[in-house]
Amino acid sequence: MKFQAIELLNGKCSSADIPKILLLPFTLLLTLFLFSLIRISNPLFPKMYTRSSNSTEAKRCNVFSGEWVSYLEAPHYYNETCKLMLDQQNCFKNGRPDREFLNWRWKPDECELPLFNATQFLKLARGKSMAFVGDSVGRNQMLSLLCLLSKVASPEDISSKYAPLNPYSELESSQWFYADYGFTLAMFFSPFLVRSIQSDPNGFSFHSRVHVYLDEADEEWATRIKSFDCVIISAAQWFWRQMVFYEKGQIVGCFGCKNENITDLSNTYGLRNVIRTALRTLNDLKGYNGVTFLRTYSPTHFENGEFNTGGRCARTKPFTKEEKRLDGYPSEAYLIQVDEFKAAEKEGRKRGLQFWLLETTEAMLLRPDGHPNVYGKVKNKNVSVVDCVHWCLPGPIDTWNEFLLYFLKLGTQTSSS
Ligand SMILES: *[C@@H]1O[C@H](CO)[C@@H](O)[C@H](O)[C@H]1NC(C)=O
Ligand SMILES: *[C@@H]1O[C@H](CO)[C@@H](O)[C@H](O)[C@H]1NC(C)=O
Ligand SMILES: *[C@@H]1O[C@H](CO)[C@@H](O)[C@H](O)[C@H]1NC(C)=O
Ligand SMILES: *[C@@H]1O[C@H](CO)[C@@H](O)[C@H](O)[C@H]1NC(C)=O
Ligand SMILES: *[C@@H]1O[C@H](CO)[C@@H](O)[C@H](O)[C@H]1NC(C)=O
Repeated sequence: MKFQAIELLNGKCSSADIPKILLLPFTLLLTLFLFSLIRISNPLFPKMYTRSSNSTEAKRCNVFSGEWVSYLEAPHYYNETCKLMLDQQNCFKNGRPDREFLNWRWKPDECELPLFNATQFLKLARGKSMAFVGDSVGRNQMLSLLCLLSKVASPEDISSKYAPLNPYSELESSQWFYADYGFTLAMFFSPFLVRSIQSDPNGFSFHSRVHVYLDEADEEWATRIKSFDCVIISAAQWFWRQMVFYEKGQIVGCFGCKNENITDLSNTYGLRNVIRTALRTLNDLKGYNGVTFLRTYSPTHFENGEFNTGGRCARTKPFTKEEKRLDGYPSEAYLIQVDEFKAAEKEGRKRGLQFWLLETTEAMLLRPDGHPNVYGKVKNKNVSVVDCVHWCLPGPIDTWNEFLLYFLKLGTQTSSS
């Protein structure tokens, strides 16, 4: 059995048809000015979703394009009701005083995003398996899902089923089993998605150099994923490290190494290649019939410094669309993911595989208030950390699982109609 999902056709990447007037030789200033107007008046993001479904809902609505609107109902869960919450994202336990960030709901421009319904999710998931593959923000989404489901069912921890295979996964990978539903939920921690080796013999540290084998999928997930019905891929957050890139086992370049003997490559070169490798691996995997989601870049919101230079994310309200633009690395990372997704989706369609994009970037760009900020903790340690990367639980990341359920539901409706 697998999650039936309707076929997804990619629309034109850009909905912002640039008026011909811009092609005229206006002064640079005027051009830039007009450009900025266009960017304000159009959705920030290309409309990726046109669907082959006859469901009017699916045809009409891009759920990823919208805004945060005031919402005063209680959140789906609290730190007291979700026993599986870790201190890392338990912002209230860590002392976060403000709660206004919970008073917002994502409102797509063209429709409503239904509230998460745990019973409905578990019914759809009955007898199936779902894996999150990627970095700790993917893990953050899995924890949100565990908390959202905690209202209805408690899973058994079956993490011992898979021994960690990559050097990072020991603390991060985990598996859960919902006996009443025969539903398996797994996290395969693989922040580079491909084989990667720390050069520091003392193990992982932020400054140690990582050897990243761009064309070899990480066995942590690649050897275990075949039987999964639904796979959610995420990566991008670790691409600020010093990385030596390999292809076919040979060094092809480096990011941040300052070594004159190795070609300087961008971090996005690495990101593009690992996304490509991960999606290709699934496309090439014999016996894999799962539905694959690629979750797009999750913006960080450090202000007045970076994570290591005193940056903070102390806002208590969302941005409006006019206040915040996607640019720099987040924009590049997002566009690379969309690009690679489209290529893989086209390949996958030939063999009947379903690929979906979870385009969380636009919604989350507007949520500088959703991170732990100074109320973060190092995972599994009683050490405080400023965290503007992960998301508080409960919080806006719960919306990602509303997106997920939305698509799983849409797929089921379509396939049974
Ligand atoms: C779906 O819509 C197309 C045209 O919009 C129509 O030709 C086709 O018969 C419809 N299919 C179903 C199953 O309703
Ligand atoms: C939940 O958060 C409150 C603060 O809002 C804190 O006092 C309590 O210890 C936390 N409980 C758990 C189980 O995390
Ligand atoms: C949640 O889903 C279940 C099963 O589909 C349904 O019976 C129930 O009414 C839904 N609850 C809400 C609040 O919509
Ligand atoms: C670059 O290569 C040269 C010649 O092999 C060597 O002398 C030099 O130390 C190398 N530089 C670095 C930074 O490894
Ligand atoms: C965690 O650290 C704080 C501050 O250092 C301390 O007060 C608290 O007792 C510690 N908690 C545990 C469970 O060790």
